[in-house]
Amino acid sequence: MQTTTIRTIGAHDGRDVRIRGWLYNKREKGKLVFLIVRDGTGYLQAVAFQPEVPPDVFETCQKVTQESSLEVRGSIRKDDRAPGGYEMKLQSITVHQVAQDYPISPKEHGPDFLLDHRHLWLRSSKQHALLKIRSEICQAIRDFFYERDFVLIDSPILTPAACEGTSTLFETDYFDRKAYLSQSGQLYLEPACMAFGRVYCFGPTFRAEKSKTRRHLTEFWMVEPEVAYADLDDLLDLAEDFVVTLVARALDRCRPELTTLERDITRLERIQKPFPRLTYDEAAAVLMRPEIQSRARGQDAPPFVPGSDFGAFDETVLTETLERPVMITRYPTKIKAFYMQPDPQNPDRALCVDVLAPEGYGEIVGGSQRIHDHDLLLRRIQEHGLPLEAFRWYLDIRRYGSVPHAGFGMGIERFVSWVAGIHHLREAIPYPRTLNRLYP
Ligand code: 4AD
Ligand code: MG
Repeated sequence: MQTTTIRTIGAHDGRDVRIRGWLYNKREKGKLVFLIVRDGTGYLQAVAFQPEVPPDVFETCQKVTQESSLEVRGSIRKDDRAPGGYEMKLQSITVHQVAQDYPISPKEHGPDFLLDHRHLWLRSSKQHALLKIRSEICQAIRDFFYERDFVLIDSPILTPAACEGTSTLFETDYFDRKAYLSQSGQLYLEPACMAFGRVYCFGPTFRAEKSKTRRHLTEFWMVEPEVAYADLDDLLDLAEDFVVTLVARALDRCRPELTTLERDITRLERIQKPFPRLTYDEAAAVLMRPEIQSRARGQDAPPFVPGSDFGAFDETVLTETLERPVMITRYPTKIKAFYMQPDPQNPDRALCVDVLAPEGYGEIVGGSQRIHDHDLLLRRIQEHGLPLEAFRWYLDIRRYGSVPHAGFGMGIERFVSWVAGIHHLREAIPYPRTLNRLYP
């Protein structure tokens, strides 16, 4: 008898097959037992009918418990009422291990309980759907860059210095020295982009963020492209193309998962080019309108102060009337990272962009043109009080054939949360790490 997966069950209509998996759920009705079996690729209803199966088989079906590992054998038939469109008429069953008192039941559990049981929660249908979407998006990211001739450059995780600011560094012993967990692969990508032209990295990054918001993890995955001879406008086009392509891929390949998550798909279908583009100063003018300021006060949100970064309330205001992500450019140089190229026309503004997702999901992409002038970069490193010795190699890139270049970073969990329409980032990563969580 052929062993197959539930995903490909349609190809076996009318034949006898074997499915190996786990018991997801069970119903009994008189002489019938309905076993919902999952194998990781889908769900299949296997029906045991008392007069047709031997008594011991029927009894096993009655007794088998939720999440026991098992093997069911039987004939496949099309049934439009069955979830997935096919059903198995069960002939025999082997239980490999009986699961006792599986802790997660269909009833409501609190988030802490579920997160403590993350190793089991992965089996639940919504979590399963989410992580499949994540997997598809990660594959789409690799395909996007591969098709555009970007070279994958893996950046190191153990680093001697900060990239995005010293306040959120995880420090670790490195023999007789200190090392820091990478906050971004960018600094290592810039030299590689001078070697390969177009590069990207995609890996875990670490930030000792003491914030407990639904948008912050201490370990998250970031994808970062970096392009030589690119300016801010090139970067905006790339980011727009990237986001649109990834959303389209999720719509194309993750319909069942998006349906499981009850995602409003029409909202994703509206994610098309072009995205609205707004400067920081234009966005600030919106936030300074009296009616917006009084709304902020009414909601106990700190009213926006010109020159400062946007808060969660401000981001919501800037995106609430738009159906597409908005690209906000040219933030004050003062509030952005040391490596960002100041606008030559107005050095108080940086040639940078934040892409804010609709529906209140906030910043999904952050990037900029990089300083390519050696002396200016040196000054910025000194002004930021960064250890010069650790940046010698980074400065070298401005000494040997320096060119304007630009790149961005996108946090995978932010993107997946938005696409999947989930509230909290922690469900968009298999094992979340936050201020209060390092288990399991
Ligand atoms: O804006 P950020 O800090 O930019 C950088 O790290 C640049 N070096 C990237 C580059 O230009 N190559 O972070 C980039 C993105 C954010 O837009 C957000 O999507 C995500 O990383 N991100 C986080 N995701 C989850 N938890 C956190 N604590 C995050 N911090 C940033
Ligand atoms: Mg940012």
